[in-house]
Amino acid sequence: MSNYHIKHLEEYYQVYRKSIREPENFWEEVAEEHFMWRKKWDKVLSWDFSKPEVKWFEGAELNITENCIDRHLTTRGNKTAILFEPNSPDEPAEHITYNDLYKRVNKFANVLKAQGIKKGDRVCIYLPMIPELAISVLACARIGAIHSVVFAGFSSSALATRINDSDCKMVITSDGSYRGAKSIDLKGIVDDALEDCPGVNSVLVAKRINSDIAMKEGRDFWLQPLLDEASGECQAEIMKAEDPLFILYTSGSTGKPKGMVHTTAGYMVYTAYTFKNVFQYREEDIYWCTADVGWITGHSYIVYGPLANGATSVMFEGVPSYPDFGRFWEIVEKHKVTQFYTAPTAIRALAKEGVGYLDKFDLSSVKVLGTVGEPINEEAWHWYDDNVGKKKAPIVDTWWQTETGGIMITPIPFVTPTKPTYATLPFIGIQPALMDENGQEIKGNQVDGRLCIKFPWPSMARTIWGNHQRYKDTYFSAYDNKYFTGDGALRDEVGYYRITGRVDDVIIVSGHNLGTAPIEDAINEHPAVSESAIVGFPHDIKGNALYGYVTLKEFGETRDHNNLRKEINQLITEQIGPIAKLDKIQFTAGLPKTRSGKIMRRILRKIASKDISNLGDTSTLLNPEVVQDIIDHAK
Ligand code: WTA
Repeated sequence: MSNYHIKHLEEYYQVYRKSIREPENFWEEVAEEHFMWRKKWDKVLSWDFSKPEVKWFEGAELNITENCIDRHLTTRGNKTAILFEPNSPDEPAEHITYNDLYKRVNKFANVLKAQGIKKGDRVCIYLPMIPELAISVLACARIGAIHSVVFAGFSSSALATRINDSDCKMVITSDGSYRGAKSIDLKGIVDDALEDCPGVNSVLVAKRINSDIAMKEGRDFWLQPLLDEASGECQAEIMKAEDPLFILYTSGSTGKPKGMVHTTAGYMVYTAYTFKNVFQYREEDIYWCTADVGWITGHSYIVYGPLANGATSVMFEGVPSYPDFGRFWEIVEKHKVTQFYTAPTAIRALAKEGVGYLDKFDLSSVKVLGTVGEPINEEAWHWYDDNVGKKKAPIVDTWWQTETGGIMITPIPFVTPTKPTYATLPFIGIQPALMDENGQEIKGNQVDGRLCIKFPWPSMARTIWGNHQRYKDTYFSAYDNKYFTGDGALRDEVGYYRITGRVDDVIIVSGHNLGTAPIEDAINEHPAVSESAIVGFPHDIKGNALYGYVTLKEFGETRDHNNLRKEINQLITEQIGPIAKLDKIQFTAGLPKTRSGKIMRRILRKIASKDISNLGDTSTLLNPEVVQDIIDHAK
C-alpha cells in the first residue's frame, strides 16, 4: 500500500517516521506509484549541504506536463482542469477541461517553438491571472524552456531587472489587465522595461482588455492568430530530473532579487504529494487558491500540484473587494468550492468589512481552509474558523517559502488537531531544527530559535540563477550543514511549531516579501536624500507596513515636506511597484549607528512600533543624540 494519502494521526506519525528513517525508500515509493516517467532514476538522492548540491531522482527522465495533463486524458478528459473566474461577475466563468488544456498548451508550445524558443531558453511571463498565464507556464514546461513568471504588479524597472538577470529571450504579456474597477496598461510597462533589455527578441501579446496599444514591428506579436495556426499536438520534450523547470524571483535582505531555480522531478513529486495531503484532496473537489501565479503559491498550488493530481483548480482574475467585499464568498457558493486557500492579509481585510457579506452566501461546500504567506494572528484565525468554516472546516496554516517549493510545516486536515497561530507539525519528510545564536541546535520542547531544515526534501530550490555562491551564503552558511530559512520559530510543549517572523531584513507586507535594501536604494536616488532606513511596524490589515526614516542632504525646514513624501513613494513605485510604498516617512537629522557605521535597525523598529520603553543601551552608539530627536518626531 502506498503512503500517498494520510488519513489519521497515527498514520501521520508512522509515515513521518518512515520518511525520516528511510527517506530514499519513502520518496522512491511515492515517485514510483503516482507519476509517469519516461525513464526511472538511477539514484533517489545525493546531497551535500556544504557545496551545496542536492539531486533527487538522478537519471530519471520525464516531462511534467505529461504528468499534469496527458496522463489524465483517458480518465478525466472532460473534467474541468482550470476553472477561470473573470474579474467581472457579469462575465461567464470558463471551464477548461483537461482535453482543452492539452490542446491549448500544445498549441502554445508550438507557437513558442516557431518563435525560436528551445529547451533551456528563459521566457519571462508577465501576465494577469487569465488562463494564458497557466497555459504559457505549461507550454514552456512542455518544450523544456525555463519560465520566469514576474508578478504583474511589479514596475517596469523591476521587470527589466528580472528579465536581464536570467537573460530571457521572450516576454509573454497582455494588452492590459483588469483589477477590480481599474484596468492596467501591462503592455506599456513591458515596452518601458524592454528599453533596457537588449536580449529580448520577441513579445507575445494576449488580448484581454481590447485596448489600443502600440505593437513594435518585428518584435511584438498578437498571440491569438499564432495559436489559431498552430498544431494542437506538440511532443513533450524529455527532461532530466534535475533540469531547471523555472526561475522565480524573491526578495533578499540585500542586493538584487534572487532568482530561485527549481528543477523538475523533485518539485513535481513534492508539490503533488503535499497538495493531495494538505488539502485532503478528493476527485470530485473544487479547489481554490486565491494567490497569483506570479508567486510560488500559485506555481505550486494553482498550477503544478493540483494538475498533477488531476484536480479542478479555480483561477480568479479579480480582487476580493470587487464589485464588493462579498466576491470571494459569491465565488465559493457559485462553484461549490471545497478547499479555499488564501492569505491572512485577505482574511483581515474581509473581517474588517463585517460578516454581512458572508451571510448572503451558502458556504456549506467548504471542507478545508488554508492560509499562507505570513503568520496569522489569533483574531483572524478565529474569524476565519467561525465565519467561513463555521467551525467545521479545519484551517491549515501552511508555512513554506519560494525557496522550499512546497509546504513544509502544516496541519493535515482531519488528521492534525489545529491550534490557532500554529503551523503545527512538519510535513512528511521535513526535518526542522531550531538553532541558538551560537550555532547549536536547541533540543526539546517549549523552546524558540532560528528555523533550519536538516535534511533535503525533493522540492527545495537548487541554486540562485547565475550566483551559486549567493545561494550558499544566504542559506547554507549561517549554520553548518543546515538550510537556514531566515525565520524564527518556537516549538510548544507538544512539538507544534509557531512561526514568529523573519529574523533578517526582509519585511512581509500583505504577504509579499520585501527586502529593505532595494527600497532604500530607490529612496536614496532622490536628489534631496542623503540616507534612509526602512523598518516594518504592525498594521491591522497588512500585518506589517513600512516605515521609512529618511535623512536629507539639507535638513532645515523640511521635516513635514509632503511633496517630498509623495516623490519618494513615486520613486519606489517606479523602481519596485506600489506594494513597496511606505505608510509613514519621517525625516530625521540622522540615523542611529554603531561605531562601525551600521544602522541600528532594532532601535528604529522599536520606535516605529511605538515601543520605546526598552531601547537598550544607546550610549555606545556613534550618535546617541539622534535617538531622542527621532522619538520626539516619530509619526
Ligand atoms: C512567511 C510564500 C508564518 C515566512 C509561500 C517565510 C509564513 C516567507 C507562513 C516566505 C505561515 C509563509 N506562517 N509565516 N504560514 N507562510 N510565511 O517566499 O516568513 O513568498 O519565510 O513564500 O513568508 O514567503 P514566500
